[in-house]
Amino acid sequence: MCSANLPHEAESIITSGAVRPRLTFLGVGPLGGTYAACYAELGYEVLGYDVDEGRVEKFSAGELPFHERGLGELVRKNLDNGRLRFTTDIDDVAEFGDVHFVCVGTPSRRDSDSADLSYMEACVTSLVPKLKREALIVGKSTVPVGTAAWVQQLIDKHAPGDVRIEVAWSPEFLQEANAVQDVLRPNRVVLAAQTEWAQDLLEAAHKGVFELAAQEDREVPLVVTDFATAELVKVASNAFLSTKISFINAMADLCDRTGGDVTALARAMGFDERIGHKFLRAGIGFGGGCLPKDLRALAARGRELGAGESMRFLSEIEDINIGRRTRAVRLAAEMADRSNGPAGPELGGLNITVLGATFKPDTDDIRDSPALDVARRMSAGGATVTVYDPMGMENARVAQPQLKYAQDLRSAVTGADLVCVLTPWEEFRHLEPAALGDLVAHRRILDGMNSLDPQLWVNAGWQYRGMGRNASA
Ligand code: UGA
Repeated sequence: MCSANLPHEAESIITSGAVRPRLTFLGVGPLGGTYAACYAELGYEVLGYDVDEGRVEKFSAGELPFHERGLGELVRKNLDNGRLRFTTDIDDVAEFGDVHFVCVGTPSRRDSDSADLSYMEACVTSLVPKLKREALIVGKSTVPVGTAAWVQQLIDKHAPGDVRIEVAWSPEFLQEANAVQDVLRPNRVVLAAQTEWAQDLLEAAHKGVFELAAQEDREVPLVVTDFATAELVKVASNAFLSTKISFINAMADLCDRTGGDVTALARAMGFDERIGHKFLRAGIGFGGGCLPKDLRALAARGRELGAGESMRFLSEIEDINIGRRTRAVRLAAEMADRSNGPAGPELGGLNITVLGATFKPDTDDIRDSPALDVARRMSAGGATVTVYDPMGMENARVAQPQLKYAQDLRSAVTGADLVCVLTPWEEFRHLEPAALGDLVAHRRILDGMNSLDPQLWVNAGWQYRGMGRNASA
């Protein structure tokens, strides 16, 4: 349990009266913002901190600076009950918290594939000198193995005199669009600390999750481990998921060459429980703010550690992934009877509609989005590309201003020579092929994530192509 001199006893929705550490979340992006609201919901007193005033203002007003399903309600509820607050004032953070979770971004560096730890460094070195009482600093961000030890060195260098400040690690495994559930009901919790004091405090800071599980008669597996393992669990998991996706995408290529159907192949493979059905959807590959950069950072860290040879397969995973985007553009050219010369596909004069801009459905996030990148490549090949996405239009317009953006689906497809469904949003899956056929110039559909029923489209007179799924009229 947490140490006896914790200053605050929060009223908990889970176990009223239990002693709980006060928590801060440094960096309230999709990770820290979700954690802050969810841990307030679990009964903790929480302070969210960010250097971005706009973000803090929005959260403080009960609005979200990004889309995440179910988060808005939790933010507003816990602002109202007083358990949740946001600030840009680091003195406030130092004064308030017993446990400080570092949730800042760790993007790729500009000059290499390694993770950029400058936000983490800035965060730790601005907080630590302000601390006047004992505190635990917990890493949640995704980092290269070895970072926790480096953070402890930073703390030792910047800590004021005789205050006990320790580092601990607890990686997160949130999936955007399911992040609230992933925090409240995680599929595992991984904890790493170096002293009994730190371990007790770390467990107290996660206790709400286990109490909620007990109330719901669920178990949350707990892995208590060392720093290196805790850091590796996250990047290894993301690399494994990426590998699964690229594996099935490589099989999609074989299906294309042999007339096989990769969706049936994945389905059949997945019935073997050792393989499973998840993350075997073939298509235009993986994107987002996490899998691609974490894959590159792991390969880079492997090289730094002298394990470059063992990590070499990771660059194959990435090559297969990027190859899917090229494949989609070539397929578009093929469908429109255009040449695929050495200089790339020739798409001049074609009107192409791209449905989907976000990296996956139910988010407005377009970071490293395969859909938007394919749209960009088609535009670079000479096509006039019109994009429609249910949530990602604003972000897409900023990132790729040269593309055209339609106000709604109907105007997006009107007059199209080719329609490409590149993000598998639910609303695209239920498109009516016959009705859509009356709007387009040519009935050609490229199903970039294999989310449509080919037969329905072929029956309505469309030329259909999937990715590794060769049905066509
Ligand atoms: C991913 C991991 O799934 C989380 O476990 C992890 O915590 C998170 O990164 C992170 O590092 O923070 P996320 O980026 O939200 O989560 O997205 P995913 O749902 O994993 O999808 C990633 C990409 O893979 C998307 O572009 C998606 O379309 C693609 N994908 C996914 C496929 O191409 N095929 C599949 O079968 C599954």
